[in-house]
Amino acid sequence: MTKLKIAVIGCGSIAQHRHLLEYEANTNVEIAAVCDIVEERARKIGQLYGATLYTDYKELLENEDIDAVSVCLPNYLHAPVSIDALNAGCHVLCEKPMATSKEEAEDMIQTAEQNGKKLMIAHNQRFVPSHVKAKELIESGAIGKVYSFRTAFGHGGPEGWSAEGEDSWFFKKDQAFIGAMGDLGVHKADLLRYILNEEFVDVAGFVENNAKEDITVDDNAVCILRSQSGIVGTMAASWAYNPNEDNSTVIYGEKGMLRLEDDPEYSLVAQYTNGDVVNYQLGKIQSNDDGGQSDSKVIDHFVDSILNDTEPLITGEEGMKSLEVILGAIRSGETREISSLEKVTK
Ligand SMILES: NC(=O)c1ccc[n+]([C@@H]2O[C@H](COP(=O)([O-])OP(=O)(O)OC[C@H]3O[C@@H](n4cnc5c(N)ncnc54)[C@H](O)[C@@H]3O)[C@@H](O)[C@H]2O)c1
Repeated sequence: MTKLKIAVIGCGSIAQHRHLLEYEANTNVEIAAVCDIVEERARKIGQLYGATLYTDYKELLENEDIDAVSVCLPNYLHAPVSIDALNAGCHVLCEKPMATSKEEAEDMIQTAEQNGKKLMIAHNQRFVPSHVKAKELIESGAIGKVYSFRTAFGHGGPEGWSAEGEDSWFFKKDQAFIGAMGDLGVHKADLLRYILNEEFVDVAGFVENNAKEDITVDDNAVCILRSQSGIVGTMAASWAYNPNEDNSTVIYGEKGMLRLEDDPEYSLVAQYTNGDVVNYQLGKIQSNDDGGQSDSKVIDHFVDSILNDTEPLITGEEGMKSLEVILGAIRSGETREISSLEKVTK
């Protein structure tokens, strides 16, 4: 079988820790080209993977015969670069948050449809073993009707992660559009939509910058969410959780609770109201603490969806619905009113 020719656009941290490693481990693909605006970075990565290097993604799309592209760029470039790649005939795996507005997300979806190409958003939390197991347990009725949840994703901030360090685009509103809520909160919005199998209809949010100085985006955000069936819960995102990362979720139901990534030893703990406790030791969640490394399954899933011509688990529509939750949180923070998502998600 001929291998899929892949290009990775943006050679920063997530490209180096996840996309490039996992493409290289996939025997059905060849990393044909890489692009980064920082020439030295593009050269280093190009040499490491034996790929042609570019500093201008438009030249890459013009010169190379590429089947699929990973967009690993600052948030403001997700939509324009994905759209150009789709129009150049490539399938696209785009990092999160999908775009900076609903309109951009809609344009991406429409362009994928027009060109008959896959568009997948890299919400890796859906593939984490404890999350997959929790979804199974909820669907099987193990905890009965779900009433509430709390979820948090926080760490000390992206300065130790981003290729740009303390001066990173992550802190600049014109390039990131949103801070911790878009970096981390959107993962949890997507996770909860997925494991609860429900859409959120109301969002109240405090999206604040109260920790880091000289940044133009939020670094601490807390939201209250209400789903279509009336499940209510909180979602927190932070770049000021020190010294340890918190990546936990607790789901409360009629017959018990599920604690996901909340226990140092067990990735999932099911505590039932009849006294039973089941501890699950499943695979590890990806964490900035270990450099984000480990098999996210995102890349293999994207490649399989192309080879088998199946719909990826996280389509553009799914990415857009998760984006709408954080857009609702921003609106609520600005207006000091609850944002209704019903009109925008249905
Ligand atoms: N799924 C996840 O768990 C996860 C984790 C971290 C980051 N991300 C996302 O991945 C994306 C990239 O984040 P990162 O952590 O790799 O950031 P980063 O700062 O480490 O890297 C960004 C790279 O993009 C390059 N770049 C900027 N403008 C460019 C342009 N016009 N053309 C080519 N290259 C350009 C920069 O030089 C840099 O190398 C972001 O959207 C982020 O939200 C996702």
